[in-house]
Amino acid sequence: MKSFYITTPIFYPNAKLHMGHAYTSTISDIIARYHRLKNEEVYFLTGADENTEKVVRAAKALGVETNKYLNDTVANFKGLFSKLDISYDQFLRTSDKEVHWPGAQELWTKLVAAGDIEKRSYEGLYCVGHESFITEKDLVDGKCPEHGEEPQVLKEENYFFKLSKYTNKIKEKIESGELEIIPSSRKNEIMALLERGLEDVSFSRPKDKVSVGIPVPNDPTQVMYVWCDALSNYITALGYGRENQELFSKFWPADLHVVGKDILRFHAAIWPAMLLSANIPLPKKILVHGFITSGGKKMSKTLGNVIDPEVLIEEYGAEAVRYYLARHISPFEDGDLTEESFKEIYNANLANGLGNLVSRIMTMSVNYEIPARETEIKIFDDGHQFMETSQFLDQFEINKAMDVIWKYISIADNLIQTKEPFKTIKTDRTKAEIDIKTLLVYLVRISVMLRPFLPETAKKIEGLIKGNKIPEKPLFARKD
Ligand code: MSP
Repeated sequence: MKSFYITTPIFYPNAKLHMGHAYTSTISDIIARYHRLKNEEVYFLTGADENTEKVVRAAKALGVETNKYLNDTVANFKGLFSKLDISYDQFLRTSDKEVHWPGAQELWTKLVAAGDIEKRSYEGLYCVGHESFITEKDLVDGKCPEHGEEPQVLKEENYFFKLSKYTNKIKEKIESGELEIIPSSRKNEIMALLERGLEDVSFSRPKDKVSVGIPVPNDPTQVMYVWCDALSNYITALGYGRENQELFSKFWPADLHVVGKDILRFHAAIWPAMLLSANIPLPKKILVHGFITSGGKKMSKTLGNVIDPEVLIEEYGAEAVRYYLARHISPFEDGDLTEESFKEIYNANLANGLGNLVSRIMTMSVNYEIPARETEIKIFDDGHQFMETSQFLDQFEINKAMDVIWKYISIADNLIQTKEPFKTIKTDRTKAEIDIKTLLVYLVRISVMLRPFLPETAKKIEGLIKGNKIPEKPLFARKD
């Protein structure tokens, strides 16, 4: 059985997740489900990036103890993922000393053994919001424009990772497609960066200057830089550095890391360099998505324009949220989301579109006693062969795959409108029967194709067709 290992970034638990984070998780889930439907053995990893100053600050601001704050926030993340039906296999927490720390330290030790870690003194500007060094020219009025605060001025002794050494090797791997960066615009972006040459990066912080962090092996005065710690989650989750290596041997190298465009450099430069240094195979693909903007600006807590997925789920249901993210945001570009656009699209495409179609077809099918053919119903058990969406899903064109389904919805709608089987049934039953059976053929395919995107809705439609029932209430009630 083919294996498929897919990861999301691990989320900073310094605030609730917003629709931008829900986007990363939802498209990853769609891809994971698609590969399960292809009968592959899928391992889907997500988690929380906890060893960061951001978390300590957030807890302090609320006056709660950091650990309690972390546990509550992570419980909240998991609650959201469960509502959104995110079918992850493991939720990794980087504060987990048993699961994560041994592997993070082992990887560090490998980098040392390769001669790629070196102590240097360093002076620079550090943005806690970014958890990375930034330069004078990134600042606007002396502040980080994204996080709205002045960077810290650091002057300290750190361990450095010799990233520059790997510039050419990474260039080769990306150029040859051995490490595929999707879409090509992001590949070009990282190639341009590699062309300029990578600089060595600070990989540790003095223990007395930060409140959290994994201890650097053999140096109690230093803790690991949070990105060095965080990136290693993709292998520590599989048992790297621990006794049981079963998952690691089965699933590494990763088939796909899904990341947002802001963390491309970490995943397409620093992470491959760490793996090359430790002589571990590189991931196969990195899918880089754009940002969800709201009213044209990146959705972010700092900008105060976040839309809380829980609020939309409460009002419209989780499947509607999955629908919007999958169909109305292009995976490769930025996409806008406002509460108004959400409602409009919900009414047009779910309440009037899909929901209404299911009701109309099932009502005719039940009332006129014209059920789906047995041969059609069989398709539910062998559905992946009928997925016209595959050609797009294989390219991660999730929105285009959804367009295929909605094309069928509109074909079926048209058939009802032009052939009016609800009228012909009175004059020409044979004709009406052909049309209704055809509509059921469409509905079976629509339902099968919907599986990775709207798993609950797909199941409901399947149940209605198999049981020859009219939905008791609309699948998507209209909102005024
Ligand atoms: N902790 C790091 C990732 C470490 S992975 C080894 C981090 N966390 S994050 O919580 O800030 O972001 C997690 C993911 O959410 C990233 O892929 C990021 O791009 C994504 N998004 C955050 N805001 C977003 C939008 N407004 N729109 C879409 N995705 C965005 O970075």
